[in-house]
Amino acid sequence: MAGSDQTKKHFRLRSQRWFDDPEDPGMTALYIERMLNYGLTRGELQSGKPVIGIAQTGSDIAPCNRHHIELAARTKAGIRDAGGIPLEFPIHPIQETGKRPTAALDRNLAYLSLVEVLHGYPLDGVVLTTGCDKTTPACLMGAATVNIPAIVLSGGPMLDGHHKGQLTGSGTIVWAARKQLAQGLLDYNGFMELVASSAPSVGHCNTMGTALSMNSLAEALGMSLPGCASIPAPYRERGQMAYETGRRIVAMVAENLRPSDIMTRAAFENTIVCASAIGASTNCPPHIIAIARHMGVELAIEDWQTIGHDIPLLVDCQPAGRFLGEAFHRAGGVPAVMAELLRAGKLDTSAITVTGKNIAQDLDTAVEGDREVIRAYAAPMKERAGFVILSGNLFDNAVMKVSVIDDAFRRRFLTNPPDVFEGKVVVFEGPEDYHDRIEDPTLGIDAQTVLVIRNCGPVGYPGSAEVVNMQPPAALLAQGIDALPTMGDGRQSGTSGSPSILNISPEAAVGGGLALLKSGDPIRIDLNTRKVDVLIPDAELAARRAAWTPPKLLHKTPWEEIYRSMVGQLGTGGCLEPATMYLDILTTRGES
Ligand code: FES
Ligand code: MG
Repeated sequence: MAGSDQTKKHFRLRSQRWFDDPEDPGMTALYIERMLNYGLTRGELQSGKPVIGIAQTGSDIAPCNRHHIELAARTKAGIRDAGGIPLEFPIHPIQETGKRPTAALDRNLAYLSLVEVLHGYPLDGVVLTTGCDKTTPACLMGAATVNIPAIVLSGGPMLDGHHKGQLTGSGTIVWAARKQLAQGLLDYNGFMELVASSAPSVGHCNTMGTALSMNSLAEALGMSLPGCASIPAPYRERGQMAYETGRRIVAMVAENLRPSDIMTRAAFENTIVCASAIGASTNCPPHIIAIARHMGVELAIEDWQTIGHDIPLLVDCQPAGRFLGEAFHRAGGVPAVMAELLRAGKLDTSAITVTGKNIAQDLDTAVEGDREVIRAYAAPMKERAGFVILSGNLFDNAVMKVSVIDDAFRRRFLTNPPDVFEGKVVVFEGPEDYHDRIEDPTLGIDAQTVLVIRNCGPVGYPGSAEVVNMQPPAALLAQGIDALPTMGDGRQSGTSGSPSILNISPEAAVGGGLALLKSGDPIRIDLNTRKVDVLIPDAELAARRAAWTPPKLLHKTPWEEIYRSMVGQLGTGGCLEPATMYLDILTTRGES
């Protein structure tokens, strides 16, 4: 009897400190009584069953994730069937396309709010409901900091969009439609209808933009059940996955399987490999680095070059390819990609996943689907398709997505010698300045111009804006020049097929070299040496630096000011720097 008591004590759940503390009936009563007011019983709460949070990211203002409100019923059924007690709670909404000034500003706010809930309430494990771009990293960053058993449930992409017999993909169609509008090939209604056709159902973006990329990478990290990421939101399998995810988190609590067991350096390296193979969004490096830093795993921006660049592109999805989420799913989704990478010897099989097994064991059941959509490693879409990490006399690091450089762009801009471009810059001070002046003929924009945008990094345009894939002026579009080389300290949408030089760190607003550029400066971009240099004397650069004064920042909300005072650069994940010191807080800082 004493032995079984001791065993019970040994496996005492965290939630029991709230709901079943014999030494403090006063607080126990207080913690329990209000949980009863919607029908829970004291018997349940004191049964010793694990209490599982469902971190709800869906709401009416977060439509990409709204489907999670319905899915939660299946998740709860799974939790109940496995012997747990589900408690659903909201975290700060993040809507990529609707939040001003940027959704990126809110990633770290949602992270903070999730940490507070996981730390401060009686939860033994959590289901992370991911989907729209920043919701996935925010959830994983929070789970990493608190380090309680956690599992990702993706909401899934929307069904494929169609318009007049053609596939229309989220975001990607917007960039094409804007060019048609600028050239007068579409009227207002036609433009609106074409863009809206890409959103035919509940779910997140159906292209391999940031949402599908980050959910795929959450799976590659080992944080969701195999096959979770690609199931389109309306498919029956999505509800079934919600149920199985609910069941699995209860077992993970019993096994004490925690994020730190899963999100290891090996898992992050596998994730970088997978990112290249799927043609992942340029937003993934900062998000994945942020998750790693909150997990206490060292991961540098240069790792994306050394680990990821030589990996080929296997997935033929927009924006790097042709297809959308449904085809990706039918072709086998992430397990089919990972199985290819495993057979090619590119994965570290020491990484375990939420199943408790290693990735090789998980991939035993991976199906081989449509080879048009997910190619064999030996016959890829593109060789050496990972990100290129650039540096030079203007910045420490920047990201370029090689998989979206098409032959026409390479022929036009990167011919002499191969993969080198020399031209003059035209500098814009932000997206408003770009929109005001891009059609100004006195700027002299031609095919030898690099469009530069600055003041768009984490501090400059708080959060960092998705604006670097700037469209050329209409006169150039009419000549058939539909893209120019672009660079900036902001980001671009993962749905964009533009080979921009992005995420330049440090940004102009904190005194990065981009702040010193002037329109007309000659610049050289060399993809062979991965260098971008402004071709002006060092003395001139130094004189400009001496004359530089930091821009006056207008904080429009309290959070903008707090965020700007703590945020780091995109090259190191755009984290709240003080928060990265809080590792595994339940263990290292003691239970509350
Ligand atoms: Fe939310 Fe793309 S805008 S997923
Ligand atoms: Mg985006």
